[in-house]
Amino acid sequence: MTWTRHHVLGLADWTTEEYDTLLKTASSFREVLSSRTKKVPALQGVVVTNMFFEPSTRTRSSFELAAKRLSADILNFAPGTSSLSKGETILDTAKTYLAMGTNIMVIRHKQAGVPQAIAAEMDRLQTGVSILNGGDGQHEHPSQGLLDLFTLCCLLDSDNPQIKLLKGKKIVIVGDIVHSRVARSNIWSLMAAGADVHLVGPPTLLPEWFKSMKNESNSGQLFLDWHLKPALENADFIMTLRLQKERMTDYLLPSLREYHQQYGITHTRLKLCNSNVKILHPGPVNRGVEISSELMDDPNFSLIQQQVTSGIAVRMALLFLMGTSS
Ligand code: NCD
Repeated sequence: MTWTRHHVLGLADWTTEEYDTLLKTASSFREVLSSRTKKVPALQGVVVTNMFFEPSTRTRSSFELAAKRLSADILNFAPGTSSLSKGETILDTAKTYLAMGTNIMVIRHKQAGVPQAIAAEMDRLQTGVSILNGGDGQHEHPSQGLLDLFTLCCLLDSDNPQIKLLKGKKIVIVGDIVHSRVARSNIWSLMAAGADVHLVGPPTLLPEWFKSMKNESNSGQLFLDWHLKPALENADFIMTLRLQKERMTDYLLPSLREYHQQYGITHTRLKLCNSNVKILHPGPVNRGVEISSELMDDPNFSLIQQQVTSGIAVRMALLFLMGTSS
């Protein structure tokens, strides 16, 4: 299939064919990463700029390594040490990197819509620059949604990861749904896969309007639950989410201890699930809050390290598809 998507700003409108192309491409890069040289010349001469206006460990480093493995040149922008602190606007910063020959910008910002605004400006100026959303406010985090999808599909069929493998699987997303861009991107991809997606959290972190997240191409079902137990029954996968304390402007929880008692994922609670249930977390983790420390480190259940590893192949696939399509 030929790739036609110029910017990747979210997953809400992705087609099954696009997901499968991405999974297949990521799978081939996973092989490159396990080879001796770990590198291909696919994006030689392409300039990728990481513009992260918000802290990040995994996503920023993962994009950096992905670009390097593809032989692209990578620039890293750090707001604290940049001209932004001298009053330059974000658009002017983007135009500066454009003038240096940037072809792909990966943008993270605490406000939803910043990557979209920069993409619109790049299109208006007919620059040909592609924008990749590295996480914008509470909107979307498409590369995280895709790496989660890749991790799950590879677990089900390592040689041939395809979106249809998740059809009918019960996937529970538990935690701070309202503040989570990861949850939103995952809802779109898992619903497109035809999975049964159960959102769980306290009412303050899981408003009822999430029920309306559905579009006509989605074949999966979406359920909301304010109690953990019914959702965990026969679950195939559990995606836990960090309590985003920096985004909580109000007192939304009694205490972290109480939250853990009601919604924390532990070995004991896993007994309700399917016997081969697996746990995911996008990181960073509040140990002992959303997931018990022992469970987080238990390789029999935790896919957290695989998620990080998958992220490099998936970001290579994204950069490759965007960098080689016209
Ligand atoms: C997430 C993010 O920043 O959106 N982390 C990540 O990118 N791996 C989730 C979070 O901050 O909790």
